Amino acid sequence: TELSRIRNFSIVAHIDHGKSTLADRLIQLTGTVAERDMKEQLLDAMDIERERGITIKANTVRIEYPAKDGHTYVLNLIDTPGHVDFAYEVSRSMQAVEGSLLVVDASQGVEAQTLANVYTAIEADHEIVPVLNKVDLPAAEPDRVKTQIEDVIGIEAHDAVEISAKTGLGIPDVLEAIVTRLPPPHEGDRDAPLKAMLVDSKYDQYLGVIVIVRIIDGVLRKGDRIRMMKTGGTYDVDDVGVYRPAMTSTGELGPGEIGYLNASIKQVRDTRVGDTITTEKHPTQNALPGFKPSVPVVFCGLFPVDTNDFEDMRDAIEKLALNDASFTFEMETSAALGFGFRCGFLGLLHLEVIRDRLEREYDIDLITTAPSVIYRIHLRDGEMMELHNPADMPDPANIDHIEEPRIKATILVPDEYLGDVLKLCQDRRGIQMDLTYAGTRAMVVYDLPLNEVVFDFYDRLKSVTKGYASFDYQMIGYRQDHLVKMQILVNDEPVDALSMMVHRDRAEGRGRAMCEKLKDLIPRHMFKIPIQAAIGGRVIARETLSAMRKDVTAKCYGGDATRKKKLLEKQKAGKKKMRQFGKVEIPQEAFINALKMD
Ligand code: GTP
Repeated sequence: TELSRIRNFSIVAHIDHGKSTLADRLIQLTGTVAERDMKEQLLDAMDIERERGITIKANTVRIEYPAKDGHTYVLNLIDTPGHVDFAYEVSRSMQAVEGSLLVVDASQGVEAQTLANVYTAIEADHEIVPVLNKVDLPAAEPDRVKTQIEDVIGIEAHDAVEISAKTGLGIPDVLEAIVTRLPPPHEGDRDAPLKAMLVDSKYDQYLGVIVIVRIIDGVLRKGDRIRMMKTGGTYDVDDVGVYRPAMTSTGELGPGEIGYLNASIKQVRDTRVGDTITTEKHPTQNALPGFKPSVPVVFCGLFPVDTNDFEDMRDAIEKLALNDASFTFEMETSAALGFGFRCGFLGLLHLEVIRDRLEREYDIDLITTAPSVIYRIHLRDGEMMELHNPADMPDPANIDHIEEPRIKATILVPDEYLGDVLKLCQDRRGIQMDLTYAGTRAMVVYDLPLNEVVFDFYDRLKSVTKGYASFDYQMIGYRQDHLVKMQILVNDEPVDALSMMVHRDRAEGRGRAMCEKLKDLIPRHMFKIPIQAAIGGRVIARETLSAMRKDVTAKCYGGDATRKKKLLEKQKAGKKKMRQFGKVEIPQEAFINALKMD
């Protein structure tokens, strides 16, 4: 296809503003899919994505559009993940296209991820067409939102396209705007050695790894032997084609085009987003500018509730890791929870997605320990170690100081909840960086410790604002602070799964809360049980669980024998889910609930 007849674009939006619905409409209106094959949200393939309505992995589709100027254009849409955890992947896939549709819900206005995503598009030098969606809603205020886009984002919005992705209103205008307002791809040289960007990859049960590519120079052909310039892998290309959205072989892809290649690559781990693909025979001399592997920032332990599930869990985790290069794991043993894994994630959503997949797709019940971040421990001898797990904390006597990761959080919230949001951020050791207004919404920017955010910040934010706040963050670096390891002792035995790193000033509060909770969660024994929170050897909070007086079956004596039997059986079933701790039995449930922060 001639370059001037190609438009490559992505859609950027805050979650739920209608990105997937719009993509579906574009595909439908151009007859890319027969009406009867049209499932809602075609691009979100995975079940969890579908259920939660979030897009996790980038996808792509090629649309043919006969424009009003009489020419037929090829439109390549790259669907990018909308969530902050996958910011790196978003920024890479943005490099593969020249323009973006900025979708804003006309009844909601600009939200935190609208900003984060549109800035990524601007950084990638995109031409941007604002699209106001959901104008069918009575609460839609397109004019107000246009002004807001101009004020907050600083881009022209008077000629924003007003649409309803739901009813189909305005969709033809979007297609025209793509052709007339977004630029064609930059000149590429068909005769030059192949230079293609690896945009994304995913695993297909039947075909193995499918790689999404954007061709810069040269031609990628079926039968080529290709080389990944950073990872060094070489492969024979079995198939080349495009998604319409079904995979359709084309035999080759030329400059400006976006499509897939299939080369019997075994695991997604062998492909790196942002890598340069060239041919073994005539390699290009200059790789695309650097790419960095995405690194996990949040860690937690995952343990099977039923210890017999450990082997199944290992299999499941290995399978998931093959296809998610940003997910890391290593075996971990805990006195409290037995065998499990210490896992690393890009963020909290990533953690949730992996945990959900293990539970649903592999049917394993899990206990998740408190999420932790990476601390930098500077030892007295001048060495620095990265701490991923509080259990590995060195002797405090050898520590000079500890640094923790901080984030820049952007929160948009209606006026009336601002006070509560400021209080929440302040309570979490936040430092206010900015506070501005966009209409009746406030935009506040805070410098916050990541460890205060990984616990339950999203949930708290949602609850204090009744769901009206939006939130986005980026890492800004490390800073020294007074951090300590807090242990929980039950009957004087430390329970490893419950240790955590906390700020010195917050330790008492958190320790007290944890002890109070455990007191309710651990059943009484024949003796009294002290429950304590401690830093080093010093106890900072304490509760005592008093001794049980009566035998549970006592009240059945002389009574109904079947009832007594039932009671004992119930006790036995309950026992299986108990973990022995010194002399104390702690039910599995107690760990699950103690680790829930509320
Ligand atoms: P993520 O994939 O999670 O990023 O969300 P999204 O931006 O793709 O949003 P999605 O397309 O899933 O739409 C979110 C919700 O808004 C769905 O319930 C849609 O049915 C609804 N929706 C989308 N467009 C419109 C519209 O024009 N009008 C109305 N009333 N509802 C819409």
